[in-house]
Amino acid sequence: MAHSILILNGPNLNLLGRRQPEVYGTTTLGDIEALCHDSAATLGLSVEFVQSNSEGALVDALHGALGIHHGVILNAGAYTHTSIALMDAISGIDLPVIELHLSNIHAREAFRHRSFVAPVALGQICGFGADGYPLALRAMAAHLGATPA
Ligand code: DQA
Repeated sequence: MAHSILILNGPNLNLLGRRQPEVYGTTTLGDIEALCHDSAATLGLSVEFVQSNSEGALVDALHGALGIHHGVILNAGAYTHTSIALMDAISGIDLPVIELHLSNIHAREAFRHRSFVAPVALGQICGFGADGYPLALRAMAAHLGATPA
């Protein structure tokens, strides 16, 4: 059975493509979802792709991953820098979580340097734009020992 990965996207990522393209590029979230499905297929993974602007819905999605998914790739958007609730949710589920950002959060404003996700994540990928998603899937496949289809 293929390992199943939840790709969870937080606030404002639904606007990708027209949101600050100089920072986030012109790729839409729909394009990224298609990229993830293609990449997952070559890695022997299946993916569920979810986006929400609401912190509580993201917490619920993390809880809901238990027993269904084998790992989570999380771009928590601005909640990365504020949400103890997301950090606690990740600590509460026994699943590997890879933190992802399109932009290099460490090269931006000081308030983006702090991540509440990082201490409870398997690792962090940032600064590679939309390519970060397939990179994170590759890292997750290696971590899980997934076998290519
Ligand atoms: C982001 C970085 C965050 O600081 C920002 O609030 C976002 C997007 C990224 O993907 O680069 O919404 O997570």
